[in-house]
Amino acid sequence: MLDVFKLGYVDFHVQDMEKMKQYYAEIVGFTETETDKNGSVYFSSSTDHHNIILTPSDQSGIRRFGFQYVSEHSLSEIIDHLKTLDIDASVREGGDPAAPDILTFTDPEGYAVDLYPSMEMRENRGFNKEGILPNKVGHLSIRVSDAKKEVEFYKKLGFHNTDWIEDYFGFMTCNTDHHVLNFFTSETKGMHHLAMEMRNYQHLISTLDFLRLNGVNLEWGPSRHGAGHNIACYHYDPEGNLIELFTDADKYIKELGIFDPRPWHKEFPQKPKVWSTDECLSLWGVDFEKALV
Ligand SMILES: [Fe+2]
Repeated sequence: MLDVFKLGYVDFHVQDMEKMKQYYAEIVGFTETETDKNGSVYFSSSTDHHNIILTPSDQSGIRRFGFQYVSEHSLSEIIDHLKTLDIDASVREGGDPAAPDILTFTDPEGYAVDLYPSMEMRENRGFNKEGILPNKVGHLSIRVSDAKKEVEFYKKLGFHNTDWIEDYFGFMTCNTDHHVLNFFTSETKGMHHLAMEMRNYQHLISTLDFLRLNGVNLEWGPSRHGAGHNIACYHYDPEGNLIELFTDADKYIKELGIFDPRPWHKEFPQKPKVWSTDECLSLWGVDFEKALV
């Protein structure tokens, strides 16, 4: 009925708009494309009209997130289909700039989720010249009360469960990336981190110098994770949203149930599995002073 294939955007509640705009434009290097009538500011990472939305608010943190899908069916047919899966979706009145058709629902943990079939590409394509300049917004990690239940819910939308860290951190994908979404069982709600994909290790390392020169401290890493195999490091945006920069993440071949073979996967072939926390956080065996989970 519908094929969800991409994490399209994340919308944040923002208290200090100027600081956040400065971070996403000048530090991350995204392009500001539009401000809507509600004051939400839209940023593009590349061809999409937007991948990050900053919405004025009296709080900080994630507001909603959106996935792009392809389907031959109409919005109303998809709504009927989702009803059969016990998902109560509706058409969001007016949509967003550049994405007029949006289906929206609340997931079992209370997160607002959008599904949209199309988004206009922005006119001036290409990356900016300065900033982190990630390839894309790669994956979103959110805190939930029960990761297992959340994993089962997203399976109904066609996501595959690729890995676990013990029984509290579940990884899911809707394309060939090792994970597009992951769920962290926690006593609190909200985003754990948003991850941006770098071109390669050299890009990642030079970016860490760029961050330091711009007064941004690293919180964790770099090291290589187990689940996903990604080299990752983490810092906070100006309102405390944890941002991961990563490269060299696994590609999932769902037809074979394995990750694209690499010369030093610990197992060969590497298949979806349950990792221990210590092994998963740092395959390089590095201990960091600050805990990541
Ligand atoms: Fe991550």
